[in-house]
Amino acid sequence: MHIFRHISSLREALLAERQQGKRIGFVPTMGNLHQGHLALMKKAKSRCEIAVASIFVNRLQFGLNEDWDQYPRTFESDCQQLNAVHCDYLFFPEEREIYPNGMDGQTRVIVPTMTDMLCGASRPGHFEGVTTVVSKLFNIVQPDEAVFGLKDFQQIAVIRHMVEDLCIPVEIIAGDIVREADGLAMSSRNHYLTESERSRANQLNKTLNWVKAQIVAGDRDYVELETEAQSQIIAAGFRVDYLQVCSSDMLTPAALDDTRLTVLGAMYTEAARLIDNVSLELPMSNP
Ligand code: PAJ
Repeated sequence: MHIFRHISSLREALLAERQQGKRIGFVPTMGNLHQGHLALMKKAKSRCEIAVASIFVNRLQFGLNEDWDQYPRTFESDCQQLNAVHCDYLFFPEEREIYPNGMDGQTRVIVPTMTDMLCGASRPGHFEGVTTVVSKLFNIVQPDEAVFGLKDFQQIAVIRHMVEDLCIPVEIIAGDIVREADGLAMSSRNHYLTESERSRANQLNKTLNWVKAQIVAGDRDYVELETEAQSQIIAAGFRVDYLQVCSSDMLTPAALDDTRLTVLGAMYTEAARLIDNVSLELPMSNP
């Protein structure tokens, strides 16, 4: 794997690949890689001749009281894992390479819809930081395809919206959520859990699946289901940020005639905020 710290040298290397007619697949990350990230890398590599990863802990998408400083930085083991899945190029820039005018001087990309609800409501400015850095990374790497995980369901929806609105010539590919054996979605933030919290943290996934099962069984009182689901999470000792049955396409609260649904949840532990979601498709009802 070739590692680049500068935009110009990475661009030069990727231009040479592109000139040979090779397609480029890209997986942006913040490092501390786990099987969830690696599944995206494998997907990129299976679809494109060249797989590019980036590792950049993007301060712009963290709130002032969030965990930017503590976010785990594990470069050596990340490189080993990327090599094992045959990643071809890693972009690992310093902050001044990405934000040469400082973060205050940075031109921003703002997606106006979908960004102020769910995760956006509790993390103001978060998606602006994500869309700004991802659009920069797209301009730097110029990939044919970019692979994002469905674990961050709202993030991938927002990025699709941005790519469409800004006519960015990249295909966005979704990768399934990779989970621990007990159902907990893999996340770099799972390191923040105490042993006791870890043993109960799969409650979020259990509850989301419970809501899904109720809907599949015919329950359409989404508000009542959300209330019951929140009490399950509270009973397991966690604080609920949100738990909502949404239209998969718009991410707005589900209406009775929506057939593509996603149940999204976020909860707080002592030191972490964990998110997860499950999707389902209902048969079209007769008019
Ligand atoms: P990060 O949290 O490192 O995630 C990088 C990619 O891995 C994202 O597309 C995320 O959805 C995916 N991912 C994380 N956990 C996963 C899991 N358990 N299963 C499947 N995919 C998983 O998301 C970001 O970084 C940043 O916001 C970024 C897009 C890099 C912009 O800074």
